[in-house]
Amino acid sequence: MMKTVIHKLPKLLHGGDYNPDQWLDHPEVLAEDIELMKKAGVNTVSVGIFAWASLEPCEGVYDMDWLGEVIDRLYENGIYTVLATPTGAMPNWLTEKYEEVRQMGSSGVRNLSGKRHNFCYTSPVMREKTKKIDMELSRRFGKHPGVILWHISNEMGGNFTDGTCYCPLCQEKFRQWLKNKYKTLDALNTAWWTKFWSHTYTDWSQIHAPAPHGENLLHGLNLDWKRFSTEQLVDFYNEEVRAVRTNSDLPATTNMMGFFKDLDYCKFADSIDIAAWDAYPEWHSQKDEVDIAVWTAALHHQFRSLKKAPFLMMESTPSITNWKVNNIQKRPGMHELTSLQAIGLGSQSVQYFQWRKSRGSFEKFHGAVIGHTDHGNTRIFREVSRLGKRLHDISDEIYDTCNQPKTAFVFDWENWWALEDAAGPKKEMAYVGTFLSHYKPFWEMGIDVDVVPMEDDFKDYQLVIAPMNYMYKPEYAEKIRRFVREGGTYVATYFSGLVDDTDLCFIDRQPLDDVLGVSCEEIDSPNEFYKNHILYNGKKYDTGDLCEVLKVADAETLAVYEKDYYGGYPAVTVHTYGKGKAYYMACRTEEAFLKDFYGDIAAQCGLENGLTDRLPYGVTVSRRENDEKALYFVQNFNPAPVTVWLKGCFENIETGESVSGILQMSGYSCVILKKQIER
Ligand code: GLA
Ligand code: ZN
Repeated sequence: MMKTVIHKLPKLLHGGDYNPDQWLDHPEVLAEDIELMKKAGVNTVSVGIFAWASLEPCEGVYDMDWLGEVIDRLYENGIYTVLATPTGAMPNWLTEKYEEVRQMGSSGVRNLSGKRHNFCYTSPVMREKTKKIDMELSRRFGKHPGVILWHISNEMGGNFTDGTCYCPLCQEKFRQWLKNKYKTLDALNTAWWTKFWSHTYTDWSQIHAPAPHGENLLHGLNLDWKRFSTEQLVDFYNEEVRAVRTNSDLPATTNMMGFFKDLDYCKFADSIDIAAWDAYPEWHSQKDEVDIAVWTAALHHQFRSLKKAPFLMMESTPSITNWKVNNIQKRPGMHELTSLQAIGLGSQSVQYFQWRKSRGSFEKFHGAVIGHTDHGNTRIFREVSRLGKRLHDISDEIYDTCNQPKTAFVFDWENWWALEDAAGPKKEMAYVGTFLSHYKPFWEMGIDVDVVPMEDDFKDYQLVIAPMNYMYKPEYAEKIRRFVREGGTYVATYFSGLVDDTDLCFIDRQPLDDVLGVSCEEIDSPNEFYKNHILYNGKKYDTGDLCEVLKVADAETLAVYEKDYYGGYPAVTVHTYGKGKAYYMACRTEEAFLKDFYGDIAAQCGLENGLTDRLPYGVTVSRRENDEKALYFVQNFNPAPVTVWLKGCFENIETGESVSGILQMSGYSCVILKKQIER
């Protein structure tokens, strides 16, 4: 049975960031907001995210009565509070008095006061001031019946000048961290291969964080600096959680940012009680919505996989953002569809940035539920309210279900860092794009996936796909060997298994050679004048900009290159190992190949969506389930109506009607169908 994390409000949450500290001298605003929240079916708001200056107007003087009044009034009206710690933005009194709290860029220049996410994670002053205000918030509100969850800081690591803070305190802490990790300089020098170019360190003090005007080509240093920075943030997060827990046992989370390269989000998994992310896809930015829906779905899968449990979509916009090239309005219906897409992929919430538009400053034109004019009488308000009602009505049916995929993608931050720093065979290795192109066929087939780091045990899966898994962390190869031996299907691609976790190349053999039955002799990055093809099942597909020349020890060839000096050489192979199979894809290809190939793999593994054999273009399905039932979220991302042919009989959970044969769907819509699971 699924574990409920937010005990006080076990429901789908609807609401979002609420920043009432902007309107304290207009008490009528709070009254109007509460009325409109009730109309819009809002049951939860996140309060206090950037409110440090209002909560502690000068050093050590707390003014939290206004916040108490807001939380009380909301609660009296059935609206719960996600209470934030205010470290996302610092007050001027703090940054002006103690310069060490401000980040320093990699050039050695310290940031001035202002902006957001501008604080040093190492600074003892910052940690002390944070602890004090967090403890005060806990003392005042940690047991308030209306507060359900701690929202620690905001988008940690976001808006960095250079990816992180490079101040002397951080650099010194980095050296300590390295001493702890390597114990001796000899070990560090070997791991980072410093003899090349005469970069041997003879004293710990010679080590500096990577910088554009300094060392930035030692791959081991680059990797360790990123690992250190992640650990610093996790540590900062943990310290904030300890402070808010001094008078509270509420769960805690922090809102994350999608494919955010600087921070290894998987390292937060043990610290957070529930995963949360801010989803701002660029809907309507392309000829159709498919690739954007794929991007968004992949990230919902990713954040659900952090805890392998439902997550929160902590922010989204009901209409537009203000920071894209074009901020295009969600077309009618899109908001409801994309919100239900999140729910269908495991979100327990639809939350917005922000409830009411700011009057001034940077986000005055960012979309919000309540605009500057017409308040409750706008298209956006009506669409949000309609969704609010829908979420309220379906909440009980959905709440204790979750997606339970049998397919996993290995997507690993450390691999991402190392791969894109590899310096060859191509300038842009495009890890995220490659992962998305391999995931897309699964979206098109309506098959849910998990997205996991190399540390996973892979026990829940039948199929594991690891695109461009360049780095093998310790034990990875052994886990995959066991997985395949015991009957799993594994797919590896070009540029995999080349280095260990310090980015040192494996010598003599790739650790999974025996499982894959092939090894790579050469990798070619052809340009447009050397375009090639592969031949697979009688069809011809374009290859891309990475092509390996393989040596086959013991594998069956499924596809061959068409021409050039490796014409006729294997491009896709399979090797039976123990009870399982290991596939190897030697080259990048056009999308059509991935679609056909993964269609064949899914069929062999018996993976299907359980709803239909024929999903029309732009339509997908995701499945949340528990022991008794499966819920199918059928999503039409086309503006036009479509027909879906169903396998079997289902119940529409909203109308109660039974549906079989044909499902008619309008443009930009989501239908939720149920099937009881027979034991
Ligand atoms: C981020 C922040 C919010 C807001 C939105 C705007 O997600 O967390 O405070 O700035 O972006 O899209
Ligand atoms: Zn610092």
